[in-house]
Amino acid sequence: MTERLDGTVALVTGASSGIGHATARALAGQGATVALVARRKDRLAALAAAIEQDGGHALAIEADITDRDQAQGAVETTVSKLGRLDTVVNNAGVMLLGPAESAPIEEWERMVALNVNGLLYVSHAALPHLLKAAEGEPRQVTDLVNISSIAGRVARASVGVYNLTKFGVTAFTEALRQEVGTRHVRISVVEPGAVATELITHVRQEVLMELAKRMGQMEVLQPEDIADAVAYIVTRPRRVAVNEMLVRPTNQEM
Ligand SMILES: NC(=O)c1ccc[n+]([C@@H]2O[C@H](COP(=O)([O-])OP(=O)(O)OC[C@H]3O[C@@H](n4cnc5c(N)ncnc54)[C@H](OP(=O)(O)O)[C@@H]3O)[C@@H](O)[C@H]2O)c1
Repeated sequence: MTERLDGTVALVTGASSGIGHATARALAGQGATVALVARRKDRLAALAAAIEQDGGHALAIEADITDRDQAQGAVETTVSKLGRLDTVVNNAGVMLLGPAESAPIEEWERMVALNVNGLLYVSHAALPHLLKAAEGEPRQVTDLVNISSIAGRVARASVGVYNLTKFGVTAFTEALRQEVGTRHVRISVVEPGAVATELITHVRQEVLMELAKRMGQMEVLQPEDIADAVAYIVTRPRRVAVNEMLVRPTNQEM
């Protein structure tokens, strides 16, 4: 049932590490030419080289997507240099945890700026291109996949603003799905549980200790596990839309 992505173009935000890095490789492995978007250009260049070495095609685009012009520019550069846009993975995100009372307000602003605004800027710029590509060959269907989180479904103390951004991503996904699904643009949300990435390294030290207690002996997911979920969604036949996928480590309770 898997349909390869040959002849299509994908854009992955946050491709310089973790889930985005693994997803870009997975989509390239399915035949897509992949635009790699993030701020750390050296990482993107290394990934592009690795993809090319494997016989794929990739374009590194340095952009801070919390800046509207840069987010729109990343989409426009993709289309002008690669000719089209069929798949968007809104993956870039930041998770800054801790009790609301003692939280630096800048942490809340960073999460809203990236997890909400960045995702919206990229989605808004990409939609016309996704709608256009869905009208023609090779697949007559296109995909926008939003990476939310288990935190987009379950609220917990010390996670409030991250919860707010990810619940929002899940809601936006469903509303947009209703708007464009009839024109064969599939809008999906993936909600990972704990994954071994750099995400946690941005959390303040005192909060990290509390978090470690919650994690206990959990065997966390690898970025490739989530890349696999994204690849599954976007390689379905035209008639099949996997709207939502929640992927937890087997022994994660909440
Ligand atoms: N890891 C988990 O347990 C987990 C669980 C559920 C959901 N998620 C979600 O998965 C997504 C990916 O996170 P990850 O775990 O793979 O973490 P990660 O390794 O920290 O990756 C985050 C990515 O976002 C990029 N990024 C950060 N700020 C950016 C900006 N202003 N503009 C463009 N790109 C930016 C980073 O690249 P640069 O720094 O180079 O810009 C990096 O590539 C996030 O949305 C996260 O909320 C993760």
